[in-house]
Amino acid sequence: MNNPVRVGIAGCGKIARVGHVPGIQSTDAGQIVALCDVDVKQAERLRNELVSDANIYESLDVMLASNIDALCICTPNNFHYPMTLAALKAGMHVLCEKPMAAGLPEASEMISAAQKADRILHINQSLRYNPMYVTLAELIQQGEIGEILHLRCIRGTSNTPNRAWSPGADWFVSSEAEGGLVFDIGVHMADLLQWYGGKVRDIRAYVDTRLPDIDVPDNVNALMRFHNGAVGVLELSWTLPTGANLLEVYGTNGRIRCGFTEQPIELTRIPNDNEEPPVSYPAPKEGVKDSYQAFIDAVLGRTESPTPGELGRDAVALCDAIQRAGDSGTTAEVEY
Ligand SMILES: NC(=O)c1ccc[n+]([C@@H]2O[C@H](COP(=O)([O-])OP(=O)(O)OC[C@H]3O[C@@H](n4cnc5c(N)ncnc54)[C@H](O)[C@@H]3O)[C@@H](O)[C@H]2O)c1
Repeated sequence: MNNPVRVGIAGCGKIARVGHVPGIQSTDAGQIVALCDVDVKQAERLRNELVSDANIYESLDVMLASNIDALCICTPNNFHYPMTLAALKAGMHVLCEKPMAAGLPEASEMISAAQKADRILHINQSLRYNPMYVTLAELIQQGEIGEILHLRCIRGTSNTPNRAWSPGADWFVSSEAEGGLVFDIGVHMADLLQWYGGKVRDIRAYVDTRLPDIDVPDNVNALMRFHNGAVGVLELSWTLPTGANLLEVYGTNGRIRCGFTEQPIELTRIPNDNEEPPVSYPAPKEGVKDSYQAFIDAVLGRTESPTPGELGRDAVALCDAIQRAGDSGTTAEVEY
């Protein structure tokens, strides 16, 4: 590899192991050269499993002073903002995990810092790179279901992420670490709803904590009105025994449903006459570029990042309004 993009990883837990390290390794020009974790055993385990020639650092500052071009931030949420600023200040490009921040002022500052430093700030809104959701966006853009009228999204798991996804990662259910369902799954779904429906004007929501031993929301039920007149419903839960995963978009000419099932996409069109509505199952698009190659391409100036800080901030804006609507019990306007 000629002149590889030398990448450091901050936070060597689950998403670094299953996402960033193999993801950067599979790009055409990225090379993992450094690993950093406050729990050095995590970094050592990652090095032993996946990247034997990486240097290990316990201190981010020391890693930032080493010979790296870009930083992947894979830490608990509350470190995304300060680490992004530190990395940009040190002249690095940043691939920051979602949510980019838990507040709009922090998200704005991260974007400004990237502009000032003339570096890439790419947010891992990873569903933007999922073939199923990319196909849905294309079907909508091609006018397959006409003007969008109504969006519905339900996403649920039977447990919190510290029990299922990354056992022991209790920061997921700690307000101090900016955990909680609104900014965890919520920030993904907020982004999808805005991708398909456009910007949201205002929201009403119930934001609840049902589990007895946590201090962050584990259930969210939100109603939203989009600027273009469409309406949306978002239901999220960490306490649904069966789990749930369905996204439906209704338009003037039909409906698209998708979820992780045998037929991931179902398209129903309204016929011109009295016939039964035809139903088809478009295959998810092949060859969709992943978030890691998109980041490397942006760093090398080949293409712009499809998920820059501005897009991450819009998703944070929707989550912020959901939280405010839940807290106040009234309508909250989205502050983009
Ligand atoms: N894009 C996605 O689809 C997706 C999926 C899962 C997680 N995530 C995000 O990735 C991030 C990490 O999640 P995870 O599941 O890997 O969590 P995790 O708890 O499994 O891993 C986090 C790691 O960060 C380390 N860490 C904590 N504080 C640190 C610090 N100050 N400096 C360096 N390392 C530190 C921990 O020791 C741990 O090893 C979160 O922001 C989460 O929201 C994104």
